[in-house]
Amino acid sequence: MVSTTTVPANQAADKVLANESKDSIFKVAIVGAGGINFGSPEGPWNNAQRIEQNLGQRLRVNALINPIPNETNRVLDSKRDSNVSYAYNETKMYTSMTEYLDYLSRHPEDEPNAFVIGIPPDFHGSNKVGADMELQIVRQFPNAALFIEKPITSAAVEDAFDVVRQLEQHQAIISIGYMFRYLKVVEAAKKYIQDNNLNIVCTIARYNSSYIHNSKVFWWYVSKSGGPVVEQGTHFCDLSRYFGGDVDISTVKVNRVLSSDPCGKLSALPIDEGSIPEHERVPRFTAASWKYKSGAVGILAHSIILQGTQYDTCLELQADGHYIRIVDLYGTPRLYIRSPESDTERIVNFPDDDPYFSEFEAFIGVAEGKLPRERILSDFEDGTKTYELTKAITNN
Ligand SMILES: NC(=O)c1ccc[n+]([C@@H]2O[C@H](COP(=O)([O-])OP(=O)(O)OC[C@H]3O[C@@H](n4cnc5c(N)ncnc54)[C@H](O)[C@@H]3O)[C@@H](O)[C@H]2O)c1
Repeated sequence: MVSTTTVPANQAADKVLANESKDSIFKVAIVGAGGINFGSPEGPWNNAQRIEQNLGQRLRVNALINPIPNETNRVLDSKRDSNVSYAYNETKMYTSMTEYLDYLSRHPEDEPNAFVIGIPPDFHGSNKVGADMELQIVRQFPNAALFIEKPITSAAVEDAFDVVRQLEQHQAIISIGYMFRYLKVVEAAKKYIQDNNLNIVCTIARYNSSYIHNSKVFWWYVSKSGGPVVEQGTHFCDLSRYFGGDVDISTVKVNRVLSSDPCGKLSALPIDEGSIPEHERVPRFTAASWKYKSGAVGILAHSIILQGTQYDTCLELQADGHYIRIVDLYGTPRLYIRSPESDTERIVNFPDDDPYFSEFEAFIGVAEGKLPRERILSDFEDGTKTYELTKAITNN
């Protein structure tokens, strides 16, 4: 008989109440007034909301940095008209990080407890002037806490590794937004592997995305978005690495279905793809494989073929006698485990688990010195290794 258990949800609402005390204000500088930071109809992300839930009355957003004042005003107006207005009433607007850091050099007492960077990758994560805000911040504040969205940059991979080397000279706390690492289902799979002392033989990641609501034109240009593996499949390359370890990048091999292939025609595109040069159009399906340094093999199958709204996702892990599947990471995550004792899979459900809440719970706890640094599950170096893998797949 199939055995099914359910793990209770994380109690975000209770945690807000637990943090209601106003005695230690936590100051945040938010960089970017777009979808990841303030929500978008395409998905469940909304970093500001998760920070509000974590900190309650203790939150003060000191600065919102965004080059387009209209966007900043729209966000601030809506926040000031909501039940979290206390956190935004005094927020100052800046149009660039340089302007903000210049202000802080004259007002060091306003140094924020955390910087939260959620902007397109062209504008950060590099060692080149103009896209080097992480380095600018840590040069001025060597102990700063930075939360940075994925992908960590769109710069050359060697430039990103140079940033890693430069960041190592400072004590900054850095967390990269690979939120799936914080899912309870992922934690449970990690624990199972550890408890049973398993050697992973292969990781097989499947990410089938729905395309008809994705109307951001830049996303459909490989050179502008970085391509769907760098931009989107990155979450599953990252999770594969989380279980498989470091990748031997020279072993990456790829096949893909292009828009020009007869089976690559999509009937419900939300943008006019005719205006995009053919060599710039995104592949419909990418099949990549690689060897990990451990000798294990990784596989990624990424597609942009489903219509509707839900994504279909799965990560399979195999080890001698054990078959572990992590299913529906964007929806209701489930863990399936087949072990040597029985051919029948055990199923564990993890309903209502919010990895965005948990990644900020960990980041804020570490930034406040209340949690050990190990609670941050993805740092800049690790995010750079994932970026390196996604670039190798895209350029193969
Ligand atoms: N982890 C997730 O689930 C997830 C979900 C969505 C987006 N993201 C990532 O977040 C990043 C941003 O995506 P988005 O959807 O918010 O994009 P967006 O286009 O909705 O918003 C980007 C915002 O950044 C601002 N901006 C641009 N350059 C800037 C600069 N130099 N300084 C300050 N602000 C600047 C823009 O004005 C805009 O407000 C991307 O890297 C994306 O991959 C992650």
